[in-house]
Amino acid sequence: MAKRYLSKEWKESMALRLDYNNMMSEFVGEEQGYTKKDIDKLKPMAAAALKKLADERGKGWLGWMDLPFNQKEVVAEINKTAKEIRKTAKNFVVLGIGGSALGPIAVFQALCHLHYNDLSPKLRKGPKFYVEDNVDPERMAALLDVIEPEKTVFNVITKSGSTSETMTQYLIIYNILKEKLGDKAKDHIIATTSSNAGNLIKLAKAEGFKTFYIPDGVGGRFSELCPVGLLPAAVLGIDIAEMLAGAAYQDKVARNKNVYANPALMNAILQYLAMKDGKNISVMMPYADGLKYFADWYCQIWAESLGKEVDNDGKVVREGQTPVKSLGVTDQHSQVQLYVEGPFDKVVTFLAVDKYRTEVKIPEGCEDIPDVHFLCGHTMNELISAEKKATEYALTVKNKVNHTINLPEINAFTIGELLYYFEMETAFEGEFLNVNTYNQPGVENGKNATYAMLGRRGYEAKKQELDSAPAKKDDYIIG
Ligand code: PA5
Repeated sequence: MAKRYLSKEWKESMALRLDYNNMMSEFVGEEQGYTKKDIDKLKPMAAAALKKLADERGKGWLGWMDLPFNQKEVVAEINKTAKEIRKTAKNFVVLGIGGSALGPIAVFQALCHLHYNDLSPKLRKGPKFYVEDNVDPERMAALLDVIEPEKTVFNVITKSGSTSETMTQYLIIYNILKEKLGDKAKDHIIATTSSNAGNLIKLAKAEGFKTFYIPDGVGGRFSELCPVGLLPAAVLGIDIAEMLAGAAYQDKVARNKNVYANPALMNAILQYLAMKDGKNISVMMPYADGLKYFADWYCQIWAESLGKEVDNDGKVVREGQTPVKSLGVTDQHSQVQLYVEGPFDKVVTFLAVDKYRTEVKIPEGCEDIPDVHFLCGHTMNELISAEKKATEYALTVKNKVNHTINLPEINAFTIGELLYYFEMETAFEGEFLNVNTYNQPGVENGKNATYAMLGRRGYEAKKQELDSAPAKKDDYIIG
């Protein structure tokens, strides 16, 4: 059967749409909103960012830009492996953290049944799925209570091949597998890592693990569209070629030199204007449970890529916007009061879905109670859409800037688009802010301190530094 993403018309019908009306002064007033003149003034900056990304695509840390186009053989191998796992494994567990976990979680939530693990095996058609992205001992114990390791495939994902959290999980799991299965333990581990750096690749070679490679030039938080995300997705029965087709579609859109026809570039400009205006909080508010963890993925890429102390010229700039996850409509009853009436320090991004994958009717009832009965005859689909519009309206009349990214529906193609769209927007924003989008020096200090505390060789000086830090005062610890 012909793949739907090969049809130009279908792809066009699935294009994301950016509605930035409520960022404009016509709608939120001159003090908070922006004008076409503001946008036009930044056109040279946008053109420079576009040119730089076009000139350097595929080079340095821009390897992620090629992922929609250069993985034909990898996709075939992933699909082959996934088919086997779907036939044989009862569980598939990702061991990883940060960029090696947030993408798989987001895609699982978006494209699988919302109670996937609770479905019967017949309906699920594949293994149960878990992503262990912490080193909370209770969580590891809880996982071991619900899976049988010998009926499970573990996908250890780490770009650096040396992240303590992931390697700790690996040590625990592989030890259990070896105790239970001896020489066959290796068949239950798949390593996804760099081909030339870190310890996991050495272990994979020594032990004989099946291995997928994270290409050079693809950093953790830009890695969802390589084997990091593609293998878990394929194991879940998701059409990964369609996901990549969605990303490729957005790649074309994001190359458009006309800022008024390039949503990722336009949004980067608007966020830049907002940041320079003191709006240092970026709220990501999907109106779909399927996109709930997409907001977590966004929080990482936006925070870790743009939150930087110094710029590319070494000047102290302390850039970045604090990303916040909010779920519509749930957080209307939690955070929206603050967004509507609190300070002018936020940009709210709504993710809206035109067509949900199902329709639920609200039945007749409560005829004697008009305040409840008005709901009858409508659908939950109408209700959630009306609530999104109502929240948008409530913010806008209070001059709170907000914009909406519309997905025609949630499917593998639109999720591929959405991932790539935000990768592009982040890359553009990093260029505008003149920061290194792809490093995370602020994370390294904490990592090194952990190594020192646990006695890792080579971190003796760090240990001394920690030991000589002022001791905490008991006076300030109460309770
Ligand atoms: O974006 C990044 O590079 C980080 O957030 C990493 O994904 C995270 O630290 C995990 O690293 P690794 O994949 O090397 O284990």
